[in-house]
Amino acid sequence: MNDYKHLMGEDYERLYAKYLIRPSRLLVAPDPAVALDKDTRLLDLCSGSGAVVKAAMEMGVAPANIVAVEESQAMSFGLHRHGPIHVVHGHLEYLGLYDMLAKHGPYDLITCRQAVNYWWHRDIVEAIVGLLDVSGCLVFNTFNTKPAEVPQAKQYVHGEAQFAEIAYLVGDVVQHVQAREGMGMHMTTFRWIEPETFAGVLDELSDEHAFATWTRIREDTTDTYVVRQIDHP
Ligand SMILES: C[S@@+](CC[C@H](N)C(=O)[O-])C[C@H]1O[C@@H](n2cnc3c(N)ncnc32)[C@H](O)[C@@H]1O
Repeated sequence: MNDYKHLMGEDYERLYAKYLIRPSRLLVAPDPAVALDKDTRLLDLCSGSGAVVKAAMEMGVAPANIVAVEESQAMSFGLHRHGPIHVVHGHLEYLGLYDMLAKHGPYDLITCRQAVNYWWHRDIVEAIVGLLDVSGCLVFNTFNTKPAEVPQAKQYVHGEAQFAEIAYLVGDVVQHVQAREGMGMHMTTFRWIEPETFAGVLDELSDEHAFATWTRIREDTTDTYVVRQIDHP
């Protein structure tokens, strides 16, 4: 469950400011690099207010070659002053979406920042990898440490504002509440997924189709996964 649909772009950015650092990280994670220029075709999944999209445009990707999928209206309208990007309001679980996305592809780069735990499923990953061009990469990141079952409350200051956050695990579902002074609380839930589970699905897809390889980059409490298309399915 998540109710990002109630959060428009600017509110999302104010509430989750702490999580918006280094939006370009996924774009530069592949090694060898995926070239970022006016010809790069980028698909950004679960775009939120468009942090990755904005970083990509600043790094030279042409707005016309960017497709962003976001289930809510959180995408910041300010982004459009850079040029017309293609925004698809949809759920990744809706597999019919992939035929439509394929029309804009194949993609050199597909990104999904801090959102894979909302939708991770083998069939969806398979459909997404199938949208990549040869040598293209799917890059996503997620947290790698199991949250505690006892509610953990954190208070912190970011910039000038005071924040509080509560997170804990019920079964395999993370309950996450985020609050900022002057704003209503926002609650979201998503699955805790073991690093071995990601590895299992990616190994299975590589073995079955022999068209993708993958690597994991561990940075503190975050793992970044790079899945590279090596042939057409
Ligand atoms: C934590 S935010 C991350 C946003 C953005 N990627 C970023 O780095 O700022 C997660 C986003 O995923 C979107 N989302 C969650 N589940 C989704 C789904 N099944 N299909 C499409 N979007 C989804 C939410 O609406 C939300 O904007």
